[in-house]
Amino acid sequence: MNQPRIRILATGGTIAGSAGSAIERGYRAGEVGVVELIKAANELGLARVLDGSQVSAIGSQDIGWQQWNVLYQSIASEMDNRRLDGFVITHGTDTAEETAFLLDLALAPTKPVVLVGAMRPADAVGSDGMRNLANAVRVASDPGAAGRGVLVVMSDQVFAAIDVRKAATSGAEAFRGFPRGPIANVTPTSLDWFGPAERAGRGAQFEWPAALPRVPILYAYAGMDDADVACMLAGARGVVLAGMGQGNAPATVLEALARAGVPVVRSTRVDQGSVDRNLEVDDDAFGFVAARGLGPAKARILLQMLLANGVTDPAAMQSAFDRR
Ligand code: SIN
Repeated sequence: MNQPRIRILATGGTIAGSAGSAIERGYRAGEVGVVELIKAANELGLARVLDGSQVSAIGSQDIGWQQWNVLYQSIASEMDNRRLDGFVITHGTDTAEETAFLLDLALAPTKPVVLVGAMRPADAVGSDGMRNLANAVRVASDPGAAGRGVLVVMSDQVFAAIDVRKAATSGAEAFRGFPRGPIANVTPTSLDWFGPAERAGRGAQFEWPAALPRVPILYAYAGMDDADVACMLAGARGVVLAGMGQGNAPATVLEALARAGVPVVRSTRVDQGSVDRNLEVDDDAFGFVAARGLGPAKARILLQMLLANGVTDPAAMQSAFDRR
């Protein structure tokens, strides 16, 4: 039987990080190249044909449009290539959720696309990178991973891009999902999906844009006022409020945002929970959009994608945030 063929797109991050010693605390992200990653993966005997390309060699705090565009073009142009079965993106964990969600919005879920990282550098004691990579290759090789959108694999769990977030600054089990937890468990030799592939047969949700508009995130805090809003909004085409609790903010801030003349999406600075319309804030009166289950970073990505696709009407925006 033919072995699955998986393309690795390497961007850097701790999964490619090196400290130069197994017990060194500090390390540099993106030191191990894709050729070395593939060689190490092949030594595990995964029974997959791996090839790869080096998109970047950076920590994911520096990821942005340039790398996202290369990732999107590299995958979209090969989605129908019969000689490829799936894609694995190696990535820093800090912004994994943003890259995964952006690609999820723009790629048809035809073949598995799996983003994977590590919390410990490649040469650390108890490094999680090779196990996570082996798991990611396992998921990307499974035809049952298609139709689920972009997936994130960390610590023997598979998350959907829309749910996943980094929830801890250290420790191998740093990722959580909201509102759904993991949608599968995975090891290098097993994979158990908890439900059907809900997006099987569907196309991409959005056109890939030529650029993404400037959308800052405004983090709400006690004592904040309208002057803080003015500082943040220069050149913005939209804004996401990382509000208190149910996406709330001082009255002067809400009023300043309503006057700003750009779409406003209310998310929350709280770890978990949905921000719903017209509960504590009168979204109808202010003309705001409620982010529902998306945290600020992903609410920003969706708002950018909507604006880049010409959607500015608050009701149309709200239905995009309501849709899962
Ligand atoms: C990064 O996001 O590149 C650094 C942290 C990590 O990969 O875990």
